[in-house]
Formats: sequence, C-alpha cells, structure tokens
Amino acid sequence: MRTGICDQLGMEYPVLAFSHCRDVVAAVTRGGGFGVLGATVYSPEQLDIELRWIDEAVGGKPYGVDVLIPEKLAGMERGSGFDAAALGGMIPEEHRRFLDSLLVEYGIEPDAPGGENGDGDGEGSEGKPPNIAAGLSGEGALRLIEVALEHPVRLVANALGAPPEEMIKAAHAADVPVAALAGKREHALRHVAAGVDIVVAQGYEAGGHTGDIATMVLVPEIVDAVAPLPVLAAGGIARGRQMAAAMALGAQGVWTGSVWLTTEEAETHPAVLEKFLAATSSDTLRSRSITGKPARQLKSAWTDAWDGPGSPGPLPMPLQPLLVDYALHRIRRAASAGQPGATQLVNYFVGQVVGSLDAVRPARQVLREMIEEYVDAVAGLAGGLE
Ligand SMILES: Cc1cc2nc3c(=O)[nH]c(=O)nc-3n(C[C@H](O)[C@H](O)[C@H](O)COP(=O)(O)O)c2cc1C
Repeated sequence: MRTGICDQLGMEYPVLAFSHCRDVVAAVTRGGGFGVLGATVYSPEQLDIELRWIDEAVGGKPYGVDVLIPEKLAGMERGSGFDAAALGGMIPEEHRRFLDSLLVEYGIEPDAPGGENGDGDGEGSEGKPPNIAAGLSGEGALRLIEVALEHPVRLVANALGAPPEEMIKAAHAADVPVAALAGKREHALRHVAAGVDIVVAQGYEAGGHTGDIATMVLVPEIVDAVAPLPVLAAGGIARGRQMAAAMALGAQGVWTGSVWLTTEEAETHPAVLEKFLAATSSDTLRSRSITGKPARQLKSAWTDAWDGPGSPGPLPMPLQPLLVDYALHRIRRAASAGQPGATQLVNYFVGQVVGSLDAVRPARQVLREMIEEYVDAVAGLAGGLE
C-alpha cells in the first residue's frame, strides 16, 4: 500500500495524525504512520522539550510539526510582533462583561478587576496556559518553525493561509517539505503559488478550523487543480473505509485529527472525553467562539451562549482567543473538580466523526484497525470487478 507520499516522508502507511499530544504523535509514528505535533499551543522553549522527547521516543522514524499562521488577523500585520496590550485595548467592554456574566451564570468566579482575563501576557504565569493568541502571530509561529527545524522533523505544515515565504525558505533550506491545509480550490492554488510541496484538502466535516465544502467534493477538485503535487485528504476520516474512499478520490494519503482524541495516549480532558464518547455526528458545529474563526467543535453551553441571541458575537481572531483563553482554562480546571456548570460549558474541537468514536483504544491499535479495514475495503472493491 505504499504511495508516493510514503517515499517522500519516509513512513510505512500513508496515514498522518495531527495531535497536540506528543504521546499520540510518537505512538502513530512508531506504529508506521506519521505523527504531526500541533505546535501553536507551545512556547518555543516548551516545543523544544516536546520535540526532544519525541526524538527519543521515535528512534529515527519520521514525524512533523504544524503551526497556524493566519493570513488575516484583526489589528495586526501578518508576521508582525504580538502587542498584547494594544490588542487587549481593542476588546470591547461589552464582550468582557458578557464573558464575566456567562462565567457567573455557570458558577465560575470572574476575574478580580485588573486580573489576568484578556491581559494576554503570553508568558504562562503560574497555573495559566501560554496565550494561544501569541502563538498565532506570524513572528511567534516562525520562531516555532525555527525550533522545529533544529530537530529531525520531516514535514512542517501550516493552516489558515498560504505559508509565509520565510517559513518555506527556512524549511526548504533544511530539506524539509512544507504542507498547507486548504478548504477550497483557490486556497490550494495560492499554496502552490507560494511554493508548498504537499496540499492537505480539508473538508467541512473536520475538527478545528474548517471551510464549508465537504471532503467528498473538495478532494478530487484539489487533486485535479494541483496535480502533480501530492494531496492528503482530511476531514471525516477515522477508519479504513473512509481512508479507502479518500484514496479513491485521488489522495495519496490521509491527514487525520479527531480520531486520536479518544486514544489512550491523548490528554483529552476527562469531561470532554466523556462527551466525545457519548456524542453523535450531529453534536458538532462550526463556531467562532474559541478562536474568532469558524472552527468545528462539540456543541456545549459555551457555544450555545456565544452563538445565541444574547451574545455580542465572537470577536475576530486574535481578539477572541485573547479574551477567552484564560476563561476556558478556568472552565477546564473547574470541570476537573466536577463543578456542574463547568461541565456544561466545557467543549473542544472535534469533527463529525465524533459520532463513531465510542471507545478508548491505544493509538497503535486505531492505526492498525484503520489499515486492516482499508485493505479489506480495497480488496472488496477490486473483487467486484470482472
Ligand atoms: C482538537 C483539534 C485541534 C486542531 N488544531 C489544528 C491546528 O492547530 N492546526 C492545524 O493545522 N489543524 C488543526 N486541526 C485540524 C487537523 O489538522 C485536521 O485537519 C482535522 O482534524 C481533520 O479532520 P478530522 O478531525 O475529521 O480527522 C485540529 C483538529 C482538531 C480535532
């Protein structure tokens, strides 16, 4: 089942696994697939630690790193530094009040005046996660790429726009191919013009930031538009039959995300995991309530509130994450303590395939079952030919 992408990236099976958890990345890579670490949530120093751990764990097998460098960001130029104070000043009082009253309504104490909410210092002070909005700035993401290229990564990927020239130059100078996610044919053509080596055609079903065209329609469109560049299919792929469909559409491999969130190795919040295992494929929606751009996630009291009639509406990226990152952290913490309001609010990015994720399994087993079902599906189709 080798495809060109296996030779290009050096893995056994054409299955790429996006995850923020190093254990998932390492398990998939060790199992013969290709793990891709989502780096946006890390500071450069922390990323270096994670990648050192992965280097040890994978014993020379291939893995990659993914960043988000949005083409459009409110209040800042792409590639510019991240001025948290200036951006914080652009958050309307109405939005701060709405967030505080939402937290009060669900029994979570609002910040004291002058507290951390929306300060966005990006430093990850005690008990506070590093500010994701800072990682989204072009400057922050390019620093992450520099760190990644000091490790034996075999791929760097970017979402939310064509990768900037500096990213492509730095990767190519290190002989590392560049991939970019595309939700439309026009995006894919822009990526090709920018010099990417691999296009990830990601459909509407996918978890995380996504457009509005389904994988079934998008993949062949992009395959034809960018040929002979290789295309990976993403969105709605969690098992072998879906993988077989993606390969039939012309993809050289699959790029998966949601399916790894319910693996043993994933650090999915226990309350979120419970919701994922119970969810149906109707229980996700695209909402701007976490990042400011449409991202598919589980429906919860959080999305109901932000997308409901009393809401001032989410702010554009990066203001929305700057406003809500710390609140989301506090909600997760309260949900860990079993606080019922927090349990209602808590949610996370996940795709429509959440409806078929009903058991926790080791990542290696998920990969093996995917490949076995793929082989059976292809053999079954081939057997139906005269
Ligand atoms: C929890 C989660 C977080 C994600 N974060 C990112 C990200 O930071 N960068 C990125 O390129 N894609 C991100 N994605 C999208 C994945 O890379 C992938 O394209 C998508 O999950 C594929 O669709 P699926 O969820 O149906 O497998 C994320 C997906 C999920 C589920």
